[in-house]
Amino acid sequence: MKYFEQGGLRGSVLGFGCGSAMGRVGRRDSLRAMGAAWEAGVNVFDVARSYGYGEAEGLLGEFLRGRRSDAVIATKFGISPGRPSRWKSAAKPIARKVLRLLPKARPLVRGLAASDTSAPPFTVPLMRASLETSLRQLGTDHVDVLFMHGPPASVLENDDLMAELDQVITEGKVRVAGLSGGREALGLAVHGPAVVQALQTSVNFFDLSGIATANESDRLFMANHPFGGLAGIDRGITFLGEIGSDESVSAELRDKLRCVDKRVLADAVLWVALRGTRISTVVPSMMNLDNLRANVAAIEHSQFTDQEIDILRSRLGASDLTTRTPTPAERPTLRLTSTSLGAPRLPQDDEKASVLDEIPFRESAWLAEQPVQPLQTGALHPTRGST
Ligand SMILES: NC(=O)c1ccc[n+]([C@@H]2O[C@H](COP(=O)([O-])OP(=O)(O)OC[C@H]3O[C@@H](n4cnc5c(N)ncnc54)[C@H](OP(=O)(O)O)[C@@H]3O)[C@@H](O)[C@H]2O)c1
Repeated sequence: MKYFEQGGLRGSVLGFGCGSAMGRVGRRDSLRAMGAAWEAGVNVFDVARSYGYGEAEGLLGEFLRGRRSDAVIATKFGISPGRPSRWKSAAKPIARKVLRLLPKARPLVRGLAASDTSAPPFTVPLMRASLETSLRQLGTDHVDVLFMHGPPASVLENDDLMAELDQVITEGKVRVAGLSGGREALGLAVHGPAVVQALQTSVNFFDLSGIATANESDRLFMANHPFGGLAGIDRGITFLGEIGSDESVSAELRDKLRCVDKRVLADAVLWVALRGTRISTVVPSMMNLDNLRANVAAIEHSQFTDQEIDILRSRLGASDLTTRTPTPAERPTLRLTSTSLGAPRLPQDDEKASVLDEIPFRESAWLAEQPVQPLQTGALHPTRGST
């Protein structure tokens, strides 16, 4: 395994996304995947209050008993799980079976669950209460990273909340505070309040713009949703397969892409995000052990040269993504627009995707009604800057 050192933390560059723990994936399989990841040297776990309908943190805490001091726990506040009830606990295994047999039923299940979670305002009391619950659930006295989960950009102007984040760090309950969300909030956070020292957003074949944001800052940067969720897998394989049969690329690269299996996909996906960038860690969901092994193997040894990774990036419509320091003129300032201040915000692509596999929240009702983007037959074009 490879590790980053940042913000006083030492974490694996391949992290473990807990978005499906106790939701799409039940207790036994979640624990098995966490165990396999840990054995492979993965020590970064990305979780949230809302994951697993509020049960993912508890499971992670159970798993990390006796391992806590070597782990990096990133959790989030701001999206709350619904209240637990007996019927919901009983319904989860049934929903899992239905989804296994009928994957197309996902939007329906998502829609049903959507009404059950909420995105309340980002206030000091909410942060405090959520953090205390997280600490209790995780069985620890501190979390390594506490992210604001999908906040509007205006949260960065909430001085009381920023001061309170500072305070929980002083109290030793949080090591690093951060923001996990869409492009606008993230772009402002890069050069925003000093207390926000960690950032998280999606980085995948369909939108690599997060890499440029990561490169602008020296903050700890966590890239989520790297495969583009379940829907992204086939599209990613098609994209790489097309390069593999393109006579205009080198015979070496074509050879490497002749058969795109999980290992090759993982190599391309993970290293397109990581190679030469300031992304600290990538956190996929890898509950299936074959996926997990492929991802670990790809991190340990990449078959792609730097030049080949650049070719993949440029085919994805993104080049020049290795690190460089922006000039002050290039830096966005914390000046909020009327949209960021008040208008209702539609979920961005990464947030939409987050709802697919992790936990539904109110916005997922909106998502369930959205048409699925058709598969592009040509080279993929990232949906950059979509709002
Ligand atoms: N707003 C937020 O803060 C936010 C939003 C989105 C995501 N996240 C975090 O990011 C994590 C991952 O996001 P995600 O699940 O939405 O997207 P993802 O990691 O892009 O998608 C993972 C999907 O790809 C499969 N997979 C993993 N490795 C593979 C491989 N080598 N070959 C083929 N398939 C592979 C996984 O299956 P299995 O899981 O069955 O192995 C899963 O279905 C979440 O768990 C969460 O921690 C955070």
